[in-house]
Amino acid sequence: MSNELRSRNWFGKTGKDGFIYRAWMKNQGIPSYEFDGRPVIGICNTWSELTPCNAHFRELAESVKHGIYEAGGFPVEFPVMSLGETLIKPTAMLYRNLVSMDVEESIRANPMDGVVLLCGCDKTTPSLVMGACSVNLPTLVVSGGPMLTGKYKGKDIGTSDVWRFSEAVRAGSMSQEEMTVAEACMCRSRGHCAVMGTASTMACMVESLGLSLPGNAAIPAADSRRKVLAQMSGLRIVEMVKENLRLSDILTRKSFENAMRVNAAIGGSTNFVLHLLAIAGRIGVALKIDDFDVHSRDIPLLANLQPSGEYFMEDMYYAGGLPALMKEMRERLHEDCITVNGKTIGENIAGAECYNRDVIAEGGKPFNDISGIVVLKGNICEEGAVMKPSAASPHLLEHTGRAVVFEDIEDYKNRVDDPELDIDETCIMVLKNVGPSGYPGMPEVGNLGLPKKILAKGVTDMVRISDGRMSGTGFGTVVLHVSPEAAVGGNFSVLQDGDMITLDVENRLLHADITEEELNRRKANRKTPPSPYNRGYVSLYVQHVEQAHLGADLDFLKGSSGSRVSRDSH
Ligand code: FES
Repeated sequence: MSNELRSRNWFGKTGKDGFIYRAWMKNQGIPSYEFDGRPVIGICNTWSELTPCNAHFRELAESVKHGIYEAGGFPVEFPVMSLGETLIKPTAMLYRNLVSMDVEESIRANPMDGVVLLCGCDKTTPSLVMGACSVNLPTLVVSGGPMLTGKYKGKDIGTSDVWRFSEAVRAGSMSQEEMTVAEACMCRSRGHCAVMGTASTMACMVESLGLSLPGNAAIPAADSRRKVLAQMSGLRIVEMVKENLRLSDILTRKSFENAMRVNAAIGGSTNFVLHLLAIAGRIGVALKIDDFDVHSRDIPLLANLQPSGEYFMEDMYYAGGLPALMKEMRERLHEDCITVNGKTIGENIAGAECYNRDVIAEGGKPFNDISGIVVLKGNICEEGAVMKPSAASPHLLEHTGRAVVFEDIEDYKNRVDDPELDIDETCIMVLKNVGPSGYPGMPEVGNLGLPKKILAKGVTDMVRISDGRMSGTGFGTVVLHVSPEAAVGGNFSVLQDGDMITLDVENRLLHADITEEELNRRKANRKTPPSPYNRGYVSLYVQHVEQAHLGADLDFLKGSSGSRVSRDSH
C-alpha cells in the first residue's frame, strides 16, 4: 500500500530531498518510524479566537489525532483562514471562495493522503468542502457541534431571538439593559448557533451527503460524545485512505438529491442553495437552482426547530439526531448512497430511533406541509430567486403590493425610520445592490427590519425582496438571491417606487407589472458607476464571482485539479 500513497513522494524519498522533507518535521519531536509509509492525514483546522463558534477546535483536533494514531496513521494539523460570521466585515461570504482556495492549495501542496475537515461556523463548512472537492482525496468532515440552548428569564432562546429582541427594542417593548442581559444568556457554551441556521444546516448537509459519520450534525459541542465522534472520525479516515474512498465516490447526483430533500425536511437555511451549488460545481455534478424546488416540493417539515419551529439542535440530538429524522423519510431518499463509513445511507439510518415526537415528526404527521426552498421566476428575477416558505407568514404567500425601493443598504438605513416614508404594511420592500458583485459579497441583510411606524402598529412581517442573503436564523416573508442581481443590470436593477409587484408562491412567480418596453427603456437609461475595487482579492472577486443561481463561486475555481502537484522542483 505504501507505494501508492502520495505522501511517499515526500517522506518515502532518499537522498537530499528525503532528508529535507523529514528532517524539518523531526524538529517537532516526531520519531523516525512515523515516516515509515503509514497514511498521512491532514487535519484542516478553522480554529480561531475570532471565530467563536470554532474556538474549541484545537481540543477537537486532539481527539481526531487520537483516532488517527490508534488506526496507525500519522496526523498533521494545519490551519486555514477561518471565517467568524459575527465579526468579519463586510460579510464572511465575501471570503468563502478565498478560503476554498486556501484549503485546496494547502491540501494539494502538502504530503497528505487523506483529510479531516474541522468545520463549524456557517462559511467554514462550504469553503472547506469546496476546496477539498477540487483535490478529491479521501476526506471526512467533523462538525464542531451546536451550542447548548440559551436560557433567558426562564425561556429557551437562540440566534433567531436576536431579530425578535432588536425589533422589540426598536418598538419600545424591550429595554437596552434587558437586551444586554440576554447577550450573556444566549451563547453560554462552546459551539455554533443552536437553531437550524446556516451552521446547523451545513452540518446536516454534510451528514446527508454522506461526508460525516452518522450523528455528526446534532451532538452539542459541549457534549463529551462530540469528542468521541471526532476520535472515531480519526480512526475511520485512515481506513478510507486504505480503501481509496474519495469524495467523488460519495458525492454523486443521488447524494445531492438526498441533501436537498433532507434540507427541506429540516427547514434548512436558504444559504444551503448557494453552498450546495458551489460544491456540486467543484466535484462536477450537474445541479441547477430549479433542482432545489423539484426535490423539496413534496417534502414536509419533520424537524420542529427554530426558525421554522420551536426547538433547538440540542433537542434534536436528544430526540435521535439526523439519522432518526432521515429514517422518517427513508422512502424519499436514495438509501444506496455510500457514505464515509463505507456503509450506505440506508444502513446508517436503519437502527435510528426517535425519542421525542415534539421535535422530530413521524413521516405521516409532519409539523407543516410547507417546507423547503421555493425557487421563484418572473420578469424581475429572470434566473431565479429563492424563499423559505416555512419561515414566512402564510397570509403573505400570495400578495400584490406597491414597491418601496431602497437603492442600497445605506439608502435603506437612512430612510427606513423616516416618518415621512410613504409606506404601509401592504407595500413590498425592495433592496438592491446587495448581491454577489454589487455589495460585494452578498451580505445577510435580506430580512430587512420593518419601518418603526409599521412595527408600532403591531405588524411583524411584510414582503421583502433583495438580491442579498438572509441569515439562516432569520425569518419572514423574504425573497432572496434575486438573479441577475441589480449590479449586473437585470430587470431587478430598474425597479422603481410605485411599481406593483406580485408574489405568488404557489405558482412560483415573482412579477412586476411593467411592460417589456418600459423595462428596456429604463435599462437603456441605467448608468453603471465604475467599480471602486481595483486591487487585491476584492477586485479579483468582483471580476470573477458568478451569479447567485450558479452558487456565487469564482468562475475559474469550478471543477477540480486533482491531487497531483503541478511541478516538482525537488
Ligand atoms: Fe457562527 Fe452562527 S455565528 S454559526
